[in-house]
Amino acid sequence: MKIAITGATGLFGHGLGAAFSTRHQVIPLTHAAADITNAPAFEAAMKQVRPDLIVHSAAIPDLDICEADPDRGFLVNSQGARNVADAARKIGAGLVHISTDAVFDGKKQTPYLESDATAPITVYGRSKLQAEEAAKAVERHWIIRVPVLFGPGKTNFVEKGLRKIAAGEDYKVASDQMGNASLTVDAGLKIMEVVEAGRCGLYHVANQGACSRFELAREAARLAGLDPAKVIGVPDAQMQRKAPRLKYSVLEMAALRSGGFTLPRPWQEALAEYISTLKL
Ligand SMILES: NC(=O)c1ccc[n+]([C@@H]2O[C@H](COP(=O)([O-])OP(=O)(O)OC[C@H]3O[C@@H](n4cnc5c(N)ncnc54)[C@H](OP(=O)(O)O)[C@@H]3O)[C@@H](O)[C@H]2O)c1
Repeated sequence: MKIAITGATGLFGHGLGAAFSTRHQVIPLTHAAADITNAPAFEAAMKQVRPDLIVHSAAIPDLDICEADPDRGFLVNSQGARNVADAARKIGAGLVHISTDAVFDGKKQTPYLESDATAPITVYGRSKLQAEEAAKAVERHWIIRVPVLFGPGKTNFVEKGLRKIAAGEDYKVASDQMGNASLTVDAGLKIMEVVEAGRCGLYHVANQGACSRFELAREAARLAGLDPAKVIGVPDAQMQRKAPRLKYSVLEMAALRSGGFTLPRPWQEALAEYISTLKL
């Protein structure tokens, strides 16, 4: 298949590109070459490339930026996704839309199923939920919700912490934020498997196992041979961030299970592999 990936220079764009290019022709789309907020230009770019599938990863994933500037958040995350979906429909391409656990309210205490009600509590979450709705207008669509991502290609939650600790600083993380984590390439490979199977729909994709941000950062420090005690847990409410974080956003991968797909490996294994490649 010929597969165009938006947000190709981003963290997940790297992982998606690495995964899909193992078996397909990947056309990486940069912000400069294909701005998703410019509908006519994006459509023209797609008419030129004529992909079989668009993997839409471009977004503003920073919760605090979206909360501070809702117009920008909705323009890129919601209207941008609508433009991508429109272009996919016009050229008859399938669409993989990358979404997030932030579409939930974080009030549950057992893992969120794909079928659970959404109720985002942030601008980012609301903008991404609108984007999910837009993606549904494409006949062959996959909506993939992923949790916090780590992987090569761009600084991320894990690498940021390790660099701070390696520089002798403490790394303050929320002590009350329970969810999942995923290595970008692992999520990318699982998404490719689901797409190749032709089973459209809504999927949660993460490395197996729940973990708090605190546990994730501590395990990363330990695996990197740094002092885990330099990871300091602080309640989210005391972190003075613009957007609230979800207390609980563990994703149950019910759709993968019921579709007969194996689940991605445990997060600890994926994290160990990633950290073994990091040069701090
Ligand atoms: N990171 C996470 O932990 C996480 C967790 C859950 C879900 N997600 C979702 O995963 C996807 C990818 O996130 P990420 O972490 O890879 O983000 P990222 O590293 O910030 O990358 C986002 C990409 O989108 C591009 N972009 C931004 N505005 C654009 C526009 N108007 N037109 C075209 N491209 C534009 C950026 O290009 P420039 O940098 O050149 O502007 C960048 O390449 C997003 O849909 C996000 O909601 C991420």
